Amino acid sequence: MADKRPADAPNDALAARRGALRALDWVLKDRRMLAHFTPDPALGPADAARAQRLVLTVLRHLQPVDAVLASFLDRKPPWAPKQALRLAATELLVAGEDAHGVVDSAVALMKARPQTVRFAGFVNAVLRRVVAEGAPVFAAQPAQRLPGWIGGEVKKRFGLEALRAIEAAHAAGAPTDLTPRVPGLDLPGAQRLPTGSLRLTEGGQVSALPGYDEGAFWVQDAAAALPVRLMGDVAGKRVADLCAAPGGKTLQLAAMGAEVTALDLSEARMARVADNLARTGLSAAMVVGDVFDHQGRYDAILLDAPCSATGTIRRHPDLPFVKSAAKTETLTRLQMRMLDHALGLLAPGGRLVYCTCSLLPVEGEFQVRAALKRHAGLRVVPVDPMTLGGDPGWASPEGGLRLRPDFWAESGGMDGFYMAALEVA
Ligand SMILES: C[S@@+](CC[C@H](N)C(=O)[O-])C[C@H]1O[C@@H](n2cnc3c(N)ncnc32)[C@H](O)[C@@H]1O
Repeated sequence: MADKRPADAPNDALAARRGALRALDWVLKDRRMLAHFTPDPALGPADAARAQRLVLTVLRHLQPVDAVLASFLDRKPPWAPKQALRLAATELLVAGEDAHGVVDSAVALMKARPQTVRFAGFVNAVLRRVVAEGAPVFAAQPAQRLPGWIGGEVKKRFGLEALRAIEAAHAAGAPTDLTPRVPGLDLPGAQRLPTGSLRLTEGGQVSALPGYDEGAFWVQDAAAALPVRLMGDVAGKRVADLCAAPGGKTLQLAAMGAEVTALDLSEARMARVADNLARTGLSAAMVVGDVFDHQGRYDAILLDAPCSATGTIRRHPDLPFVKSAAKTETLTRLQMRMLDHALGLLAPGGRLVYCTCSLLPVEGEFQVRAALKRHAGLRVVPVDPMTLGGDPGWASPEGGLRLRPDFWAESGGMDGFYMAALEVA
């Protein structure tokens, strides 16, 4: 597997791998989320997409791949060759890519820079062993573990078996789900889930699907589509979507005939709500502002509060490498204050749905239980998950719904989410 190409030979796959390594540094070295990463503008869209897929795959399997590499290393490699080994070993062990192409590329990447050229032989030798002996070592590894601040809480609340199942679901990644504007829509290459979402079973661009330009559907995880279903019949009602951007739930509410006020602090993210509304031909009043400055009276309120987003690790495997427990306390205090403020905007007899895309009970179940203690007359309107097309095990003891990435694992899982409907007696 000696590299026969000159180090600077034009090679799209090589450019994508270089892009993936830059993104990997961004996450693992700089501890920043991929959502804020700008790919090299010289990369074409296909290579940028390939680089993105590669880095997500590396992050989903970093520990098991590292374990394989460790069994073939007799010394700790410096940063750059280590990342090249991680990338190439992931391609070999997880993605099942052609061994020659992967090894040649990793060697070429080492040869392309004076600082790393001396590691070309080393990388070649380690990867040859990965090719020859790595698969059974990899198969024997457990899925990537969650860091203690997430895993510990998940284990305490749901048990060790659930924690391991959630970790396996994170490693499996996430399919693309769509919410149809009109229930019952069918799309070629999409599976209709019992809750009404459409799950794409084949890859490809969502914007190329029939109906996209007309706004017949939008991308939204199956779990994220459920909080709005807890709001009851909102047709003709004044509804506030208090943390609205990028707007999946605003679209659902507008499609159900609600008179929606969509509010969010982020101007940039509200621009995405505006785009989504324009594409779908739906309408909502738009407010860029702080929940705490907002006044009014609403028949129904959706509070999709800012949270750790630990329920979305399937889609954002960079999150456990970047975020830490440090912010959780700030977020839970914010959620509590937001919930109190939002309850003050509710008209008599109105309903508020509280939700977070978090795996942490402290951002879900505990928030609702604590709110019940703070507000006399507040009650949870219990949800029967079966009425939504869900499973009985989704019900949470206080009356909300607890969704986990390992639910529906055989058909692709779902994001972790908590939601509860609240009314004041
Ligand atoms: C979980 S996301 C909302 C997702 C959205 N509901 C959807 O379905 O597309 C939380 C949002 O809360 C917004 N946010 C955070 N703090 C806020 C505040 N004090 N006032 C208003 N919006 C806030 C963030 O900008 C972010 O867009």
